[in-house]
This record gives sequence, structure tokens and C-alpha cells, in this order.
Amino acid sequence: MRNIAQRVGIDIGTALYTLRFDDPQYLEVAAREFSSVTPENEMKWESLEPEPGRYTFEGADRIVDFAQRNGQRIWGHTLVWHSQLPGWLAQGNFSSEQLKTLLKNHIQAVVGRYRGKVSRWDVVNEAFNEDGTLRDTIWSRAFGGPEYIAQAFRWAHEADPNALLFYNDYNLEFPGPKADAVLQLLTQLRAQGVPIHGVGFQGHLSLRYGFPDASTLVNHLKRFTDAGFYIAFTEVDVRMALPRNTVQELAQAQLFSQLLSACLALPRCLSYTVWGFPDKYSWVPDFFPGEGDATPFNNDYTPKPAYHQLRLTLALSGGAPARVRP
Ligand code: G3I
Repeated sequence: MRNIAQRVGIDIGTALYTLRFDDPQYLEVAAREFSSVTPENEMKWESLEPEPGRYTFEGADRIVDFAQRNGQRIWGHTLVWHSQLPGWLAQGNFSSEQLKTLLKNHIQAVVGRYRGKVSRWDVVNEAFNEDGTLRDTIWSRAFGGPEYIAQAFRWAHEADPNALLFYNDYNLEFPGPKADAVLQLLTQLRAQGVPIHGVGFQGHLSLRYGFPDASTLVNHLKRFTDAGFYIAFTEVDVRMALPRNTVQELAQAQLFSQLLSACLALPRCLSYTVWGFPDKYSWVPDFFPGEGDATPFNNDYTPKPAYHQLRLTLALSGGAPARVRP
């Protein structure tokens, strides 16, 4: 896929998890098919700083090394999130000022370490509720509201002025109050000079629920690119009720392809990343009992219809508009 995608001018990526690095087929497919990699867990705070001041970069470094050996882009995930924080931080009784200092130090230590290696960062992840209100988190409370979002982007930009900085969230693919609130705040912050370059649409979908038709999706995403943001699909998977059947496989292929087609239709869409492979390594079964088979590869690494449809979509995208490159 990566060779076809390169001709089109977008990155086709995957999440990678070092827990799977003892599986030679996993590494072989990762290197062959993808031009971008996102550490699934290794760049999250709990992985990087399990105790105050004790950084453990080994896992993240392994993924960075793999990507550099295979000529792949590295997408950093994620600097500011309310989840997967180390216990000493999540349960600590820090003052607001202490939390602000901890966050600044974390961002600058991590972005600084990978300066020139990680070219895109999910700076802030999942800061909004489904109704468009700001999620109540350790960070929103420490900063008294959305100011933490602005500060995080400023600190990340200071640490690496060349990295593209993204806001990342799920269910932004659907028109509604959450997407509206994100677009409104990010547009406002950019107007104030906050270095926010793009919006990551995670793309975690289920066959159990409906999904916007192709033109609705493109017009919806175009609101973000018209506002001047780059966009990317950052964590695409399409889960289904198990055991799966052929109809579900084809519906899954159609959804994977629809998101890619929407990306290709918009010149400011830079990247399309699936959230891991093969099905057995997906996060989905642990979080959605009874659902799974969410990735483009079977457990024996044979491609599913979704994989073939992604390749076909890339191969037939000759008419896609040229990418607007950063
Ligand atoms: O590291 C511990 C390990 O020591 C322990 O033995 C094991 C026991 O189950 O748990 C391990 O931690 C797990 C962690 O992944 C690292 O493997 C957690 O239990 C598990 O909950 C965690 O799941 C991750 C999930 O984020 C947490 O919300 C998934 O792997 C990861 O794919 C998923 O990714 C997120 C994105 O970062 C943000 N967008 C949503 C996406 C899906 O939730």
C-alpha cells in the first residue's frame, strides 16, 4: 500500500506496539505496507514516565528506530490526554501550578527528545465530550478551562518548531455538536496565534451504527480544511459483531474505503492511519466485548476485503487533487 500511496502523495500508516515486536510477520507487514507509524502506547505518559522524573524511552525508541530503518514517518501519540497517565500523576495531590509545570516539562522533554524524528504530534487527545462541552479532566481543572489546550500547543511548538501539531479525537467524523465545538475552539485559538496545524479524525467505527454518506463526510471534513487546518485519519478501524460473515467483511471494506476516499478528495488531508493489525492484536475486543475483527488483516496476516479495497482506492485515485503539503 505504501508504494501506491506515495504516488498519490499521502501517508498510509499504522499504529505499532512493541509488545508484538517478537512476531516476525508483524514486523514484515509493518515495513512492507506502511509509510507512517504511530506508537500505540509507547509515547503515552504512563509508558514514558512511570515514576516522577524517571523517563523510560526504550519502547518509544524501538518504534522510532524501526521507522527510521524502514523510511517511515513517525506520528507522535499523545502528549496531553486524561487517560493512561501514570498513577503518581493521576492520583497525586498536585496544585494547579505544579500540574502546569509538570505538563510543560513533560511536553518539552518528550518533543525535545524526538525533535527532527517525530514530524507530527497528537498534542491534545480527546478534550471534548459528545455534546460539545469541554471534558472535565485533570488538565481542564488545573488550567481552569481550555487554556491547557493552547498552552500545550505553544510548548510543543517551542520544543520542535518544525513538527506539525494536531488535535486528535474520535467521533469527529460525524457532523454534530462535538465536531462543531472542536472546530470553533481550534479556529479561535489559531486566530490568537496558537500553533495548531491540523485535526486528527480517529475513525474508530462500528458496523453496528450508521455512518454519513460519502458527500456528507467530504463536506463535513471540508469545513476543517476550509478553515485552514490540515486533516488526517489517525486511528481507523471498523469493528463488527462476531462471528463475522461475508456481508460484514464487505461493509467493513466499504467504510475503510469511504474514509480514504474522503481524505483523497481533500488536498489538505495528509495521512490515513489504521489502528493496528492484524485482528488478534486490536484493542477492540478488550473494550467492546462481542465485537472485533476491526483491522484490514486476518490473524494469519492474509489481507481482508478491506485491505484490497484500500489498495484499489489508492490505485484508482489518479484523479485526486494534488496534496497541499506543509
Ligand atoms: O502495560 C500494562 C501491562 O503491564 C499489563 O500487564 C496489562 C494487563 O492488561 O495492561 C497493560 O496496559 C494496557 C495498555 O493498553 C498497554 O498495553 C491497558 O490495560 C490497556 O487498557 C491499554 O489499552 C490501550 C487503550 O488505548 C487505552 O485506552 C490500547 O492498547 C490502545 O490501542 C488504545 O488506543 C487509544 C488511543 O491511544 C487514543 N484513541 C482511542 C484508542 C482506543 O482506545
